[in-house]
Amino acid sequence: MVLPSAASAPVTWPEGNTALIARRPVAEWAGVEALKLKHEGLNPTGSFKDRGMTVGVTQAVRIGATAVACASTGNTGASLAAYAALAGLPALVLVPAGKVAIGKLTQSLAYGARTLLVRGDFDDCLRLVREASEELGVYLLNSVNPFRIEGQKTIVLEMLEQLGWDAPDWIALPAGNLGNTAAFGKALREALALGLITRMPRLLAVQSDGAAPFAMSYREGFRVRHRVHANTIATAINIGAPASYQRAVQSIRETNGVVTAVSDAEIMEAKSVIDAAGVGCEPASAASVAGVRQHVRAGTIARDARVVCVLTGHVLKDPESLDRYHRGTEPPPARANRPIEIEPTVSAVAAVMRTLRAD
Ligand code: F0G
Repeated sequence: MVLPSAASAPVTWPEGNTALIARRPVAEWAGVEALKLKHEGLNPTGSFKDRGMTVGVTQAVRIGATAVACASTGNTGASLAAYAALAGLPALVLVPAGKVAIGKLTQSLAYGARTLLVRGDFDDCLRLVREASEELGVYLLNSVNPFRIEGQKTIVLEMLEQLGWDAPDWIALPAGNLGNTAAFGKALREALALGLITRMPRLLAVQSDGAAPFAMSYREGFRVRHRVHANTIATAINIGAPASYQRAVQSIRETNGVVTAVSDAEIMEAKSVIDAAGVGCEPASAASVAGVRQHVRAGTIARDARVVCVLTGHVLKDPESLDRYHRGTEPPPARANRPIEIEPTVSAVAAVMRTLRAD
């Protein structure tokens, strides 16, 4: 009813059924007691993209596509590579050279996609893959493809089901190319229309200050569609000209939503709290929790509100985001952990133990 009917053989890993968890240290840091985390990093390729890719690649097979392609900041490419391999289809993945986290690049290569390092940013990659797929007859699987959006709706529907169809007050998510913001709004609209829920949760879409064209447009009542030169540590959302802008505006309007931006330092602080709780996520995912904290402090989100933050990607996706701390070139956020090199002696271990007790 809420998804396109499956082909005779859907291309599926399978995916979904991710955990909805509560972790006290994260809730305390954000300032909301009833905070839950929907961990989409627990999908087969480590991000929420698998939910859209199962539907998208199934559609590619149904229409007889001979090859599939996408532009990506890393996760879409990793997911496309896996599902194309599953379907036996050749895949092209275009990523911005030097700006993709190593875990994601490794996946795309390992799963066998032709991975093109484009000398440009994500926005260049998307423009290029759109032109190339039209000219060369390759099936495009970015979130401009409506089948991807249909699959990503299941994040929200599954979350609502896990909450016994008692909708939360807020759903917070990181926002980059805005496909997920579009999907969340559509899922909520349909859930309300079908009577699955009786009231509309508010969306909180969170960007990084260094890549915040959507937040800029929101502040101006969406009168202007902004484009920026993006630059954030959260490489997954390092996007200056989001493709799904129009549909995302509709999502924010229909849910009485809010769009905001947080600093890279706030993102990394939130990540350190999520990581230290034993949960872990990639930097972009932590933006959702940082955004909630910002809006609790601003008074937009009540401290007794029921909030779900979507963690979009796995902690192993982007290990180099912590490099600066580990190498000691920058002080880590309070809860981030640094390795300690020692001589192979018990006394060296004992010296470290003593500092643990002092903590
Ligand atoms: N979080 C993660 C981990 C992502 O990989 C992305 C997008 C987002 C959030 C934002 O979602 O684009 O729908 O607003 N990653 C895309 C990619 C752009 O190529 O992997 P969005």
